[in-house]
Amino acid sequence: MYRREFLRGTMGAAVLAARPAEAFAPQEAPPRSHSWDAGQVRHLLPTVSDTRILIKASFNQPLKGTPVLHIDRTAVPGRMSDTQGEFWQFYASGLAPSRKHQLALVAANRKALCEPWELATFPSPDARPESFRVLFFTCAGGPDSADSSGTDPITQGNLPTAIRNRLMRRALSFQPQAMLANGDHVYWDLHSPRVPLSRRDNTRLQSFNRSALVFGDTNETVLKLAAGPQITSVYGTDFRSTPVFFLQDDHDYFDNDEAFDEIVTFPPVWFQLQLARATQRMYYPEFLPDATRPRALPWGSVGENDNGVSESWGTLRFGRLAEILLYDVRRTCTLAGPSAVFIDPEVEKWLIARTASPDVTHLVPAPSNPFGWTAGKWMEWYPDVLSAQGKLTTAEPKPYWQAGWLHQHDRLVAAMTSRKGRIPLTVSGDLHAIGIGKILRAGKLDIAKNPLTAVLSGPIGTAPGAWPSAFRGVGSTPPVYLDVQEEIKPIEQHGFTLAEFLPDRIVLRFFKWDRKTQSPDAIDTLEPFHTTELGRPV
Ligand SMILES: [Fe+2]
Repeated sequence: MYRREFLRGTMGAAVLAARPAEAFAPQEAPPRSHSWDAGQVRHLLPTVSDTRILIKASFNQPLKGTPVLHIDRTAVPGRMSDTQGEFWQFYASGLAPSRKHQLALVAANRKALCEPWELATFPSPDARPESFRVLFFTCAGGPDSADSSGTDPITQGNLPTAIRNRLMRRALSFQPQAMLANGDHVYWDLHSPRVPLSRRDNTRLQSFNRSALVFGDTNETVLKLAAGPQITSVYGTDFRSTPVFFLQDDHDYFDNDEAFDEIVTFPPVWFQLQLARATQRMYYPEFLPDATRPRALPWGSVGENDNGVSESWGTLRFGRLAEILLYDVRRTCTLAGPSAVFIDPEVEKWLIARTASPDVTHLVPAPSNPFGWTAGKWMEWYPDVLSAQGKLTTAEPKPYWQAGWLHQHDRLVAAMTSRKGRIPLTVSGDLHAIGIGKILRAGKLDIAKNPLTAVLSGPIGTAPGAWPSAFRGVGSTPPVYLDVQEEIKPIEQHGFTLAEFLPDRIVLRFFKWDRKTQSPDAIDTLEPFHTTELGRPV
């Protein structure tokens, strides 16, 4: 069903009826590049491994026939990722590692859909590259300020998408070889449990038919209207030559992680799990297979014809130099008290086996929820909670928080710090701040001799009301359970982190931009405000 017919129909949900007509115009892409012609391509996000490429793309108009991606001399037919022909994906395997491949997208009528471009595959797992630069950030989602429906403080006045794109372009000017978007790509929360029922706006919730499929239903239209502008306008085609790794977090399941007697938002209910999966299917790539990651890790599969990709468990492997492990803490979380987990025990086994493995120099777990700090949020590793006096405390129980989550934290921290000769480092998302610190002790675990460096990578789209100090009245602090030596106490500004992996060290460059005091023009010349060099222990 086309959008216009849908709007005339009786199924028009309140949220759509209330939308201005211009909301139904094709979603704006970022300003066009002067050096490359995007043609009909509205957005394009690729990922790679040593031998594979997976690309997600959308087009200004639905395509009538099957488009083809040419990789050098090989033709890869597209697969439709929606039911309208606006969204397509391209999957190729058996490619040569460490090679700049020439790519071209061609319509069924053999006309070019955009200018050709280059995309390099990663080195093979036994290669020894000299360096690897990765861009990390979090929370790039949120409706544009001008398109903020509802009265949710989390998304009122998000950073305009044009400015988010400017941050992306500045980050890209440092030529990262990969980008890691750590969670919260879409903010369109369906529940607002902290708002009393009498004042709660259920428009978004009611805009979906939660007992229908996402695809091929009006749900598909609503999803595209909700998610599209938050992704398309931020990335456009700017990352066409930079492999991306998108990990999902709470808001990607269309809710904040919150627990009240009436509503506990995780693990996700069935329909919201389908929304997360559908968003990923259309907009950004799943994680490509890796020989060291069991193919059937629980809840990771996308089902038939999945080519071995995983939705929730990711491996970014760059030769023997670096491996980044991505894991989603929302999908498999349990609420089973002392035996509760964030990640399924089989996934934990994989993480711990990789953390112990000698075949890479640098190994960096990158979950969304942060090691090292608390903001009193429900689904943190730590039990600190906001007291009635507005202070973080462990003297009061945090409702629905699970002791088992912290046990899993301890097992992962022990694994990350037990391998000799490796720099223990984790880079996380979710928390709206930029920070770095060394964890010296976790409960009874004394790791002062080989401390775990924890990094908060920096948020991109955060609204003024979503900074921890605005939302809960307190900034982020180390939890009572840890001893943390803070090198940068969490800074509540927009920013990102660039990590440079070298055989003997890791160099971290931190960037920040203050919306309150700096002009958007300042983004174009942004330089790191802080640099940390971590040497490999001998
Ligand atoms: Fe989050």
